[in-house]
Amino acid sequence: MEFSIKSGSPEKQRSACVVIGVFEPRKLAVAGEEIDRVSNGYLSDIIRRGDMEGKTGSTLLLHNVPNTLCDRVLLVGLGRERDFRDKEYCDAVRIAIKTLNDTGSLEAVLYLTELPVKRRETSWKVFQAVVIAMESIYRFDRLKSKQSEVRRPLRKLTLSVSRRAELAAGEEAMRQGLAVAHGMNFTRDLGNLPSNLCTPSYLAEQAVGMARTYSLKAEVLEQKDMEKLGMGALLSVTRASREPAKLITVEYRGTDRKQKPVVLVGKGITFDTGGISLKPAAEMDEMKYDMCGAASVLGTLKAVAQMQLAVNVVGIVPTCENMPGGDATKPGDIVTTLSGQTVEVLNTDAEGRLILCDALTYAERFEPDVVVDVATLTGACVIALGHVASGLLSNDDGLARELLHAGDYAFDRAWHLPLWDDYQEQLKSNFADMANIGGRPAGTITAACFLSRFTKKYRWAHLDIAGTAWKSGKEKGATGRPVPLLSQFLIERAGGRTHSAKSRRK
Ligand code: BES
Ligand code: MN
Ligand code: ZN
Repeated sequence: MEFSIKSGSPEKQRSACVVIGVFEPRKLAVAGEEIDRVSNGYLSDIIRRGDMEGKTGSTLLLHNVPNTLCDRVLLVGLGRERDFRDKEYCDAVRIAIKTLNDTGSLEAVLYLTELPVKRRETSWKVFQAVVIAMESIYRFDRLKSKQSEVRRPLRKLTLSVSRRAELAAGEEAMRQGLAVAHGMNFTRDLGNLPSNLCTPSYLAEQAVGMARTYSLKAEVLEQKDMEKLGMGALLSVTRASREPAKLITVEYRGTDRKQKPVVLVGKGITFDTGGISLKPAAEMDEMKYDMCGAASVLGTLKAVAQMQLAVNVVGIVPTCENMPGGDATKPGDIVTTLSGQTVEVLNTDAEGRLILCDALTYAERFEPDVVVDVATLTGACVIALGHVASGLLSNDDGLARELLHAGDYAFDRAWHLPLWDDYQEQLKSNFADMANIGGRPAGTITAACFLSRFTKKYRWAHLDIAGTAWKSGKEKGATGRPVPLLSQFLIERAGGRTHSAKSRRK
């Protein structure tokens, strides 16, 4: 889909469709009034008759509105004006895009971007509109023998800003929104691809391919390399799999080499059967999504590379399958991690932390400024926060605050959970330095406690995305989260700056 920004009156738009908001009860929003004036009250007439009351989620498509140059006007209900906030704005944009797509409008001008939204400026509204539009047209049908075809999908969307002075900021926000959306699409594709196709080797190929496209540095460690390094925890997970494990690193340098990088680490279990601690059969197919942390790290790198942000970012992806088998790791087995600490594997289904702990130790060699790991780590996180917020745990309150703020802005929210020492006791083992599980209470926190024992040398945060990375049920599919949160975090770290023109010319 193509996007553009413009400022100008709605009645003069030649576009196929102009999108206007209506507040409840029966009040035309900005831009609507102008069309109403030139059309001699055509819109207010319709509204007065009760055909469009402004209820949230309602829409009305009008043809041949007098004295306008557009083919159609789409009215979108916004709910009550005093309740209209960021969430309501996003919902209205989503409904508008869906209706445009369903009704075969090829082109449209969206005036919803001019609506006042509390605490949010024009760039935010443009950024969200682009991300939401791209999200709504996403399809994953490459594995169906017939592609599901939208008859005439929306091709061009123009976003309106109220003043000419806002054009530049609008265009910048549009570019950022597009980059984030492309990152999310990449993440969603990798997540949705089943585990017989999306193997650790496939993830490595995709990372190398992306690195080639954007001139990034990629490196893939093979099993024998990991053996040499001593990654006993990661290797204990992959033991019974026929697919070779990989450790992928991708480096983006957007600023001075001396600036310490942000390191992102993503859990890349391409399928989690639970291993010998086998999972029950119901919904086990969804464990193909257990590599969504890895996919979001790669998606974020893609977005950052497209935006050419002035930050250094390293992505680390430990990836393998968790399978049962004759040579699988068994409950009670003790393994030695890359850090030298030993772990008693009491449950082979708590495998995410085992691959992450070695990757987190490996991260030290990049002398990180901060490390953020992303993982579909615990079912407990879904119980605690549902599908709304990702879990956030950190050994540094400043870093946690930065991430929470980025998530709030990007509308890809996280919630801070405590990482107090009191919880560490639950990981006590009689036979090794620690156990890999901490019992039923506070499962998300004890998982993070486990990781915290491998992150003492730097500022670190952990995002548990078990509830947010994909949707179940009728709308089953990867969401692309938390690419918006991570991208916004990096945009802010770069101070909004892109790779300087000077260094690009070199
Ligand atoms: N990948 C799962 C976590 C998960 C489960 C995410 C369901 C989303 C939905 C992870 O590897 C796992 O199995 N965790 C166990 C940990 C337990 C054994 C301590 C869990 O959450 O049950
Ligand atoms: Mn598991
Ligand atoms: Zn898992």
